[in-house]
Amino acid sequence: MRMVIKIAGALLERDEHVQSIARQITELARAGHELLVIHGGGKIFTATLARMGITSRFVSGLRVTDRETRDAAVMVFAGLLNKKLAGAISLAGQPAVGIGATDAACFLAEPMQLGEEEGKLGYVGYLTEVNVDFLRSLWRSGVVPVASCMGLGADGELYNINADHMAAAAAEFIRADRLIFLTDVAGVLDGEKVLRALRGTDMEDLIRQNKVSGGMILKLEAAKRALAGGVSEVRIVGGTKPRALLLAANGGGGRCPGTRVLPAVRTGSKSAQGAARAAL
Ligand SMILES: Nc1ncnc2c1ncn2[C@@H]1O[C@H](COP(=O)(O)OP(=O)(O)OP(=O)(O)O)[C@@H](O)[C@H]1O
Ligand SMILES: [Mg+2]
Repeated sequence: MRMVIKIAGALLERDEHVQSIARQITELARAGHELLVIHGGGKIFTATLARMGITSRFVSGLRVTDRETRDAAVMVFAGLLNKKLAGAISLAGQPAVGIGATDAACFLAEPMQLGEEEGKLGYVGYLTEVNVDFLRSLWRSGVVPVASCMGLGADGELYNINADHMAAAAAEFIRADRLIFLTDVAGVLDGEKVLRALRGTDMEDLIRQNKVSGGMILKLEAAKRALAGGVSEVRIVGGTKPRALLLAANGGGGRCPGTRVLPAVRTGSKSAQGAARAAL
């Protein structure tokens, strides 16, 4: 199976989590799965910006990224975090390489423009192309590609891409069978409860009721996009639980942790709802 595994930046802050995830990735790669690992930056990036005296503004959950912020993102995402994760997987027993947008022009991007805020996001982009041949050559050699969330623009500049958006778009471009978001919470929460499954229509309700906010809104948008783009299974899972990734990657039934995101279905259609329940 071909899978995109998106790892939250917060999960890279604790060595025990990094090592546990690295062991699970090794197990999946050894089972013959073709994996593309994509990671976010989370608090480490924010802390680095603070140390450098850079303050950020957010528009629609996206960080406005001037050149200085972008350069710091390259240092933290494509440098420190990317190497840390690739190193942990390699040490766990499966060769992994940390790749970035520029390597074999693997991930291309275009600047993101947001309505009236057009052009004001700076070096924030969206993924437009993936060098699948390059990834294939790594898979054939038994190497796991580990990518940071940046894209290379036609202008030669690096653009910051929200890691969830990048994972979803990459899953679509490489025709992945499954997309797994490993995050720092147990799944999509409705209050205290982890939702076992979530449909497009439920998503909008949760957002309207302010039950979902911040990064989780972007993740749900990304999940929806991946499903619309042909990825047949999308899961949002807590990455701190031992073996959560293996269960999400291998399981199809009730053993799967976290939340399964399902394609939007017509409301009021009993059979479609039944099918959605059966798909759990
Ligand atoms: N209903 C909800 N259920 C779960 N998490 C929620 C919900 N609403 C808001 N959140 C927040 O969304 C966060 C997850 O998104 P966030 O962008 O912080 O992490 P990530 O996308 O997993 O990692 P990264 O941004 O580093 O790639 C949770 O830690 C939580 O604080
Ligand atoms: Mg996020």
